[in-house]
Amino acid sequence: MNNALQARPLTGWSGSPDYFKIREYDGYDPDAVLDVLHGRAAIVMFRGMVPRDVCDAVADRFWANTHRRVRGVEAPGFYLGAYSWNKPTAQYIAESEQVNPILRELLDVPGDPMKQFYTGLGAALAREGAVVRPAQHDGGSAAIALLRSWHGAGVFALDPHDDDSQCADPQMADFERRHVVDHQVAALNICLENDSEGGRLVYWNVKPDVESKRALGVEFTGSPYPLETLTGYESQWVEVRTGDVYVFNGAHVHAVEPNTAATQTRTTLAAMLGFVDDRTVVTWS
Ligand SMILES: [Fe+2]
Repeated sequence: MNNALQARPLTGWSGSPDYFKIREYDGYDPDAVLDVLHGRAAIVMFRGMVPRDVCDAVADRFWANTHRRVRGVEAPGFYLGAYSWNKPTAQYIAESEQVNPILRELLDVPGDPMKQFYTGLGAALAREGAVVRPAQHDGGSAAIALLRSWHGAGVFALDPHDDDSQCADPQMADFERRHVVDHQVAALNICLENDSEGGRLVYWNVKPDVESKRALGVEFTGSPYPLETLTGYESQWVEVRTGDVYVFNGAHVHAVEPNTAATQTRTTLAAMLGFVDDRTVVTWS
C-alpha cells in the first residue's frame, strides 16, 4: 500500500438540496435573512433590491474618496473600510473607529442600501425579541461596512475561503464576535457595479471541519482552500448583477470568479453578521 502521498481529503458538513439551493426573491425579504442567520438556508438573493441610481451614487463616492486604499500587488484591488482578518481586536476597533465617520458620510445618500437592509432586518428580528448592532469592544464599534472592488486576474478574483475560521482567531479571543462560531456566520454583499459576464460567486456545499482546517493550516484564517480539496463537493456559480443583494452562510467555502475583461470592475458594499446570543446579532467587516 502506498501511504507516502495520502493527502487527507477535506471533510465537513454538507446541507440538503433544499437548504443549499439559492433562494431568489424580487426585492427585499428580511425574513429570508433570518433563514440564513438561523441556518435554515445557505444563500438568499434579493434581485434588483437597490435602484441603479443609488448604486451609482455610492460607487461614485467610493471611486472619488481620498481614503480609498489599494490592496494586493499583482492584481490590485481597492477598498474602503476596515478588515478584521488576522489582527488583534484593539487594532481592528481602532481602525474601525477611524473609518466609520468616513463610511457614514459616504453612505449618506437617498436610499442608503445599508440603512434599508438593517431597518428591515431589525424589524424582523424584533418579532423574535432580538436586535442587530455593530459588534462592540471597550466602548468602540466594529466598522459598519466594507467597500471593495477587484479587477479580474488568475483563476479566482478571490480565492476559495471561509469566513468563520477568523472568528475563532486567538488574537480576537476578547472580541464579542467570537460567540458567532456557536451560531451561523452570514456574509452580506450589496453589488454596486458588475456589468461583466464574470464576477460570479462560487459557493461549495461544505462547511469544513476543524480537523480539515488544521491540516490545511487555515484554522484561524479560513484561506486559502486549494481547489483540488473541493473536488466532489457540489458547487453553485451565482450570477450577481448591479443592484442585487445577497446573504449567505460564510462557513461554506466560497470564492469570487474574475471578471471577463481587465477593464471591468465588480464593486460591492459588504458586511458580516451573526447571532452572539439568542437576542443579539452583531455586525462587523
Ligand atoms: Fe468571504
